Amino acid sequence: MNEKIQALKQSFQQELENAKSSEAVEKLRVAYLGKKGAVTELLKELKDVAGEQKKEMGQHINQLKRQVEEKIAEQVEKIRAEEEEAQIAAAEQYDVTLPVSEEVGSYHPITLVQRELEEIFASMGFTIEDFKEIVTDYECFEAVNIPKDHPARDMQDTYYLENGQLLKTHTSAAQNAIMRKYGAPLRAIFPGRCFRNEATDACHENTFFQMEGIMIDKNISISNLIYFMKTMLSQVFQRDINVRLRPGFFPFVEPGFEMDISCLICGGEGCPSCKNSGWLELCPCGMIHPNVLKAGGIDPEEYTGFAFGLGLTRLVMMKYGVKDIRDLNSGNLKALSQFTHE
Ligand code: DAH
Repeated sequence: MNEKIQALKQSFQQELENAKSSEAVEKLRVAYLGKKGAVTELLKELKDVAGEQKKEMGQHINQLKRQVEEKIAEQVEKIRAEEEEAQIAAAEQYDVTLPVSEEVGSYHPITLVQRELEEIFASMGFTIEDFKEIVTDYECFEAVNIPKDHPARDMQDTYYLENGQLLKTHTSAAQNAIMRKYGAPLRAIFPGRCFRNEATDACHENTFFQMEGIMIDKNISISNLIYFMKTMLSQVFQRDINVRLRPGFFPFVEPGFEMDISCLICGGEGCPSCKNSGWLELCPCGMIHPNVLKAGGIDPEEYTGFAFGLGLTRLVMMKYGVKDIRDLNSGNLKALSQFTHE
């Protein structure tokens, strides 16, 4: 039996040296340690060995078993390291003769329009503010005069986190923080991504962009609002744009309006795009509600202001003639590049 053990030791050593892949090592393991493996068989034969010798042989076989186990584990580890190194080496090799891709990236149409608007407003003395996407219930609703049980909340269902915070439904959620940060007088715009629990179709998305603006000072009136909006829109569309105001209800403004612009397609004559009215709905706005000013730490007796919530995604759709809002979020370069290669 002793000879058998020695012979196994030797054959194992040789086979191990030849086992250069993980599969080969696994085969070897089964051949020696598996249910019908050579070492296992040897242990079974032990029952036929007599007395004292049995104990000694048992020790030898167990020693062999441990050695085989250890050496196999070592070999597995060695092969794994080698394979990893080979992978890294392969990744580092690149072919300098490959031709450079002709395709260069371009800005998303929303980014382009956002930057254009930022430049226009900056030239009129507005600060550009960034704001987070996860906000508190207070920031999104309470601070802009939408208390807990207000029906206006029904129109702005969104995604709630377990900690009670939520994905902002409108850029108005930043109003309070910005008023507190700067106090009055104040001119700021704050573009941002907004979210709503919406079923999507060609005109609705659960993720879209708005650009909010506020101007607060002594004696600010609706005329100031109209002037700024007209100037901004005429610059965006590179032509004189007529606007009109219709009453609209938003809890954070009083009075509130819907601002329409003269139809870009027919110039106001009436066409299918504007449902023959000559007007397109573009930007809700109004005079900031005293409660909102108060919540922002600004005295409504001393200051007044206007606010607007421009649908940035909507504006982009109008400017570039995008028919389906989902194209803008698709990440489909073919669809997006047609708007940016001017
Ligand atoms: N936050 C409103 C919405 O998303 C839009 C809005 C309306 C913003 C009127 C304003 C405003 O600043 O004055 O539906």
